[in-house]
Amino acid sequence: MLKQAAHLGEAPVGGNEEELISDIIKSNEMMMERVDGGLKRAQHPKGHGCFEAIFEVLETDQENLKFGIFDKPGAYPALIRFSNGAKSDDDHKDGDAHGMAIKLLGVSGEKLISGTGEVDTHDIVLLDNETFFEGDLEQFSIFNDLTAEIASARRNGEDRLQAVLNGLWLKVFRKLFRKDILTPALETSNQQPVSPLRAKYWSTTPYLLGDNQAVKYVAIPDPEPTVSELTDGVSSPDGLTESLRSSLKDSDAIFSFSVQVQNDIVKQPVEDPTINWSDAGAKTYPIAKIRISMLGDLSEAEWAEIQARSEAISFNPWNVTAHHRPLGTINRARKLVYQEVLKLRRR
Ligand code: HEM
Repeated sequence: MLKQAAHLGEAPVGGNEEELISDIIKSNEMMMERVDGGLKRAQHPKGHGCFEAIFEVLETDQENLKFGIFDKPGAYPALIRFSNGAKSDDDHKDGDAHGMAIKLLGVSGEKLISGTGEVDTHDIVLLDNETFFEGDLEQFSIFNDLTAEIASARRNGEDRLQAVLNGLWLKVFRKLFRKDILTPALETSNQQPVSPLRAKYWSTTPYLLGDNQAVKYVAIPDPEPTVSELTDGVSSPDGLTESLRSSLKDSDAIFSFSVQVQNDIVKQPVEDPTINWSDAGAKTYPIAKIRISMLGDLSEAEWAEIQARSEAISFNPWNVTAHHRPLGTINRARKLVYQEVLKLRRR
């Protein structure tokens, strides 16, 4: 059995972690766009819809996986929101990071956050890139400040000159100063799948499974997407939402959900989500099947309801029981950031 520190991923809030988290909250609040009187999400504001699904936990002979939601075979009803990472009027022809956020229903047990107003739910938040672009909160905060400044300048209708200056600043920043931050961020946000249902998704950051074991999550469409399905992109500004709607019209969509188990605490660090655990030898075990229900012939009113649900729903990686605690500095920051921006959205 792998030897881990007693309090895995619960490094004391050292140095200026608390201060950085409050900076990150401020810049995320600054990024929120006001549309039709309401505030949109700071990240992933452009939803493609929130769909009904079944998350079926499979039988496994891996005893080390049998904790929490994976304790025994069974089926949870679920809601799944697909999203684009960038701004709400995003052109889908452009590369972006894409989200798959899963809310399981009927999961009892005390959760690590309160005040969600939800009973018996469990959230799993995934992105279509295997790694996160930053593992150091200080660096992440610098990047976050810059994107908040640019978003706020755009929103406040700053003139063309200002927009050009911002673009120029971004380029200079990238080339000369912080290539180390911006290059991976731009790579992460340059995914071009042909549909949200044909992309692969990862948690990027690790989670506890049980008492002393770190895992990451992976959701892969079944059948597996080809390389061109992952890279060809779409040809219209709303193409991702359209392809999702048309695929679900006549058939369910299936994803295979796996956990990737840490087996080397040095090569697969908990604190640094920029490291690819697959390349570093972590083993992956299928543990669930996700079946997103077909839509059939929907009226426009029914489609609007799916979009309204996508706006209203909220996710937090900490909306889980202690057996699934989020690990590492990026996850520690997300707990408060998601809670604070949700308060603003709900106000
Ligand atoms: C410190 C790092 C991070 C910060 C500050 C941050 C911040 C945020 C915020 C403010 C939201 C909007 C929440 C809401 O309004 O309900 C959000 C949503 C989201 N984040 Fe993060 N995030 C971080 C890291 C990550 C990571 C590592 C992932 C990888 C899976 C991720 C994936 C997502 C996704 C998919 C959504 C959309 C969820 C939905 O559909 O509602 N984020 N993030």
